[in-house]
Amino acid sequence: MPSLAILSTVLLLSSLRYGGGQLQVGFYRGSCPRAEDVVRSVVTGAFLSDPSVAPALLRLHFHDCIVDGCDGSILVRTPDGQQENRAFGHQGLRGHNIIDAAKAQLEFECPGVVSCADIVALAARDSVALTNGPSYMVETGRRDGFISSVVDALAVPEVSDPIEVLLIKFAQNGLSAQDLVVLTAAHTIGTTACFFMTGRLYNFRGTRRPDPSISPPFLAALQGICPPGGNGNVRLAIDNGSGHFFDTHFFSNIRSGLAVLQSDAALYSHPATRPFVDFYADSPSSFAQDFAVAIVKLGRVRALTGPLGHVRRACSSLA
Ligand code: HEM
Repeated sequence: MPSLAILSTVLLLSSLRYGGGQLQVGFYRGSCPRAEDVVRSVVTGAFLSDPSVAPALLRLHFHDCIVDGCDGSILVRTPDGQQENRAFGHQGLRGHNIIDAAKAQLEFECPGVVSCADIVALAARDSVALTNGPSYMVETGRRDGFISSVVDALAVPEVSDPIEVLLIKFAQNGLSAQDLVVLTAAHTIGTTACFFMTGRLYNFRGTRRPDPSISPPFLAALQGICPPGGNGNVRLAIDNGSGHFFDTHFFSNIRSGLAVLQSDAALYSHPATRPFVDFYADSPSSFAQDFAVAIVKLGRVRALTGPLGHVRRACSSLA
């Protein structure tokens, strides 16, 4: 297991390496003044008919950024089917159709101007606001990448990753232990499929036993929803009891053995992350403020700007 000293060094080196690009708030003010309004209106319309699109779009932004930077590559479907979103950790990603709808409207209004990566970042911001989360300004000016490969996506954090591995995967993107806790609290909204729970409920780290950190009555409830050999696609709220609202209930659940995902429970098992769980559980205003800061930081991860990358005409195609 890596020591704290090694982790701190990785964090420092990574933050030096990924300092962010020349993104700016209001990048499209001159070139496509209605860009942010168009995205907001498409996302709001979709949310009103199906509120589950908000967590889906927030997750999409994370998965875009954490693999090869925020470059829209998570949206791509390549002819050989070997694109980034095929990796196991990306299972269940949704919301591409909403990004496609916003892109189609933007291509009509300002052809070739607004990148898919920016649409994803804006849609995530609007999704947070729609679920009562903090409002924040999104930097734009990202350009889309030329590559989308399932091989690169192996770096995506997995539910079964030990906390030390999660810390390293975030550090490799310039994100600190605090960022890991604050950003993962995006799980305050949304659902998971039972197949992500199987290891935790029935064979935790190869022990053939459940994760001992789950409170016993909650374990029985979870096993009832996700029985062995049952339908792995059944979905349950990740923030038990408060899955529709962006709040700090998520942290209280972790403290009480009521975390749903193994990787969420793991946040309370390590001295680098545990104090942040305790802190935010008791401080909703700090959480709202720090989440806004952290998600803007996530949106800078290896962003392509200036002459790098390009603006795709269709988000699902690398062309
Ligand atoms: C620590 C690393 C993380 C792991 C291992 C992880 C894993 C997962 C898993 C397994 C699901 C369930 C997916 C499904 O069944 O459809 C999920 C859902 C979700 N994740 Fe994460 N996640 C992590 C961090 C994050 C971060 C940093 C964000 C956003 C900033 C995020 C946002 C979400 C959202 C909003 C959902 C709900 C999606 C929905 O309802 O469709 N996650 N995550």
